Amino acid sequence: MARSVITIDDLSIEEMEHIFDVADGFLEVMHDPARPHRIQGRDKLADRHILATLFFEPSTRTRFSFESAMQRLGGQVISSPNSAATSSAKGESIADTVRVLENYADLIVIRHPSEGAARVAANYASVPVINAGDGSHEHPTQTLCDLYTLRKEKKSLKDLNVVLYGDLKHGRTVHSLVYALARLGARIIPMPAKGLELPGHVIRRLQRDYGCTPFKREEKTNGRGLPIDVIYVTQEKPHQRRLYPEAELAEFNASLKKLLAKIENIDVFYVTRLQKERLGEQRDTETYPPIDNAFLKGKKYKDSRVLHPLPRVAELGYDLDNDPRGVYFKQAAYGVPVRMALIAWLLDLKPSSKSTAPVRTFPQYGHKDGIRCSNQACVTKLQSEQEHLTPAFWIVEQDGPVILRCMFCEYEWAARCAGRVSKRRYFTDTSKWKDMDPGDLVLFAEERDATNAHFTPYKETAASKCLTPTPS
Ligand code: NCD
Repeated sequence: MARSVITIDDLSIEEMEHIFDVADGFLEVMHDPARPHRIQGRDKLADRHILATLFFEPSTRTRFSFESAMQRLGGQVISSPNSAATSSAKGESIADTVRVLENYADLIVIRHPSEGAARVAANYASVPVINAGDGSHEHPTQTLCDLYTLRKEKKSLKDLNVVLYGDLKHGRTVHSLVYALARLGARIIPMPAKGLELPGHVIRRLQRDYGCTPFKREEKTNGRGLPIDVIYVTQEKPHQRRLYPEAELAEFNASLKKLLAKIENIDVFYVTRLQKERLGEQRDTETYPPIDNAFLKGKKYKDSRVLHPLPRVAELGYDLDNDPRGVYFKQAAYGVPVRMALIAWLLDLKPSSKSTAPVRTFPQYGHKDGIRCSNQACVTKLQSEQEHLTPAFWIVEQDGPVILRCMFCEYEWAARCAGRVSKRRYFTDTSKWKDMDPGDLVLFAEERDATNAHFTPYKETAASKCLTPTPS
């Protein structure tokens, strides 16, 4: 299988630094003298290569900067005007689409509304696949642009205090970014809009996989503690009040002041838009207060940098555009050199000697029967993919409830019931499943799923007998 970039964990920190060094090199020789963060002209490095962009969701920056990056490298781009113009509109699976496209291009960039769609593409394609955003899951190349901007602005990616503001629940850029920041040892200060906090499984993963520790309000932040507490910003505009009922306002203010008071300087303010397309119609009119000059007037924001993956809607004041702290247009411009470097690296035109050190590996579990991913936005729920995808999981916790992580969308949840395929029997004490022959094991989300699959319960005594481990 070719080397692909589907999640930010597919890249080691050394590989990211290599990509940034290569991006620096492109900027050095190809920058526009009038605007040094802008690439101009054309190289010949990739003149024998073709990139395919396969976008099933709207995009401005990601798609155009990928296409520009490939053209600046001297390569060619093939693409379709929109997803309705591809055979997916006729029901073709992602798997089949990429198995065809790999014959026409040397690299595939995919954006899709289903979480895990890019992983499916990578599993089937023989050429490298880059995830340009899969639902609310991840957007690893945006994180590369974010980190590259910070490396330029702050000189080092170590020891940063980073506030994440806005829709932290659905923002895929935020999810990729927190995992990278955690590996870099940043202090992460989530500042979600109400009801749009980081998902529970993302927080658990920060703690389990990356060794982050929740920040206690009493702790000083000059230690290595990682704040994953929740703070809120004050409302400022009456039309933005729906997320902030009057009664809760005083409490938000107090929490915000208390937490921010402990932090001497904020290096980064990462602002994100409300992901309306993931909310359904009922929240169409909601938004949250903007981060603007007035908000950032304290001493602790003197050297802050305000980043935003863009597009902005109402959460970021236009008055920051001419403030040196607002670097979001530079961040968008860096999309070209960073994606040039990523493409060149994946095509082995700028190889690195370092290999990926996986963050953490877990035992695998997969069975055609039994548990399915419980995330409704997972690619495994798509009718077009159901025929060919076998549910597959990482077992990320097995002391107490069995916690599974879907290998496609990476959503995590508990399996509450296990069964023996050969006996068509099940039991609900999942701590016993470890003693079983893995080939004979099937896990279910709930007891009723086991009965629906025509499994019958073990009786107490029979269960303990048949589940006793065989002595070695
Ligand atoms: C982001 C995305 O698509 O997730 N945009 C981007 O790629 N720069 C953020 C967003 O749409 O809010």
